[in-house]
Amino acid sequence: MKNYKSLKQVKLPRVGLILLFYLVFYGFLAALFTFTMWVMLQTLSSDIPKYRDRISSPGLMISPKPDTALEFYFNKSDAQSYAEYVSTLRKFLESYDDSKQSQNINCTPGRIFDQNDVAVKKACRFNLSELGQCSGKEDKTFGYSKGTPCVLVKMNRIIGLKPEGEPRIHCTSKEEGMVEINYFPPEGLIDLMYFPYYGKSLHAHYLQPLVAVQLAINSNSTKEEIAIECKILGSPNLKNEDDRDKFLGRIAFKVQMTE
Ligand SMILES: *[C@@H]1O[C@H](CO)[C@@H](O)[C@H](O)[C@H]1NC(C)=O
Ligand SMILES: *[C@@H]1O[C@H](CO)[C@@H](O)[C@H](O)[C@H]1NC(C)=O
Ligand SMILES: *[C@@H]1O[C@H](CO)[C@@H](O)[C@H](O)[C@H]1NC(C)=O
Repeated sequence: MKNYKSLKQVKLPRVGLILLFYLVFYGFLAALFTFTMWVMLQTLSSDIPKYRDRISSPGLMISPKPDTALEFYFNKSDAQSYAEYVSTLRKFLESYDDSKQSQNINCTPGRIFDQNDVAVKKACRFNLSELGQCSGKEDKTFGYSKGTPCVLVKMNRIIGLKPEGEPRIHCTSKEEGMVEINYFPPEGLIDLMYFPYYGKSLHAHYLQPLVAVQLAINSNSTKEEIAIECKILGSPNLKNEDDRDKFLGRIAFKVQMTE
């Protein structure tokens, strides 16, 4: 009996000691972590990514982006079937409206627009009329009601990227003769004046250049699934063939139209 009691008396303080040790130990670790993090954050700028060995190549994106694995299905005689594509396009192009671009400037086409020496970076105007029949101005359905649906293609924003050569979007279809592809601006050109991009905080009103791809589906090819692949061409420093990344400089989608 006596032994038990003394054992308890010895054990309890020891448990307390262990708890105290861990408390101090973890407290110290937390403090160390916080301090290291703080030092690290002091050296970072919110505008420019710190660790960047080389500027990566951009991926391609399309709008509208169908929920189902980049497959467009619609009936050109049924407005309901493409209503979502139309409203997505309309929303997407809202920031390109003339009224939203009053502070944007007209840049010199065909030239990289370097603004390293100015604090507040200007954004170049992208005039919606460049998108021709895909601007949503004359044709409010972006061609969907006529069997000539528009898809907008854009390059992901990459800070500091300066494309070389004459970058353009070019699309092909495996199915010969089913579809005719038209581009706005002509030839799918992406003007160099929209580069480089300086990041969200420095380049607040920046607008990405867009290329509209209009697919004129042959009337004898309705109900068929048409596979389209778009790529960036004409620019040596923009990759478009990466086995691991199928969106690097390219994008593939399918269109199936009924009537
Ligand atoms: C397409 O829509 C029209 C009008 O609503 C309808 O008559 C036609 O059957 C539809 N076609 C298909 C394949 O669903
Ligand atoms: C956009 O281009 C059209 C046709 O070239 C022109 O009439 C219009 O004024 C331009 N808009 C702006 C904001 O420059
Ligand atoms: C569809 O019609 C076009 C002419 O309008 C023709 O050139 C093409 O070969 C036809 N395609 C098929 C699959 O029949």
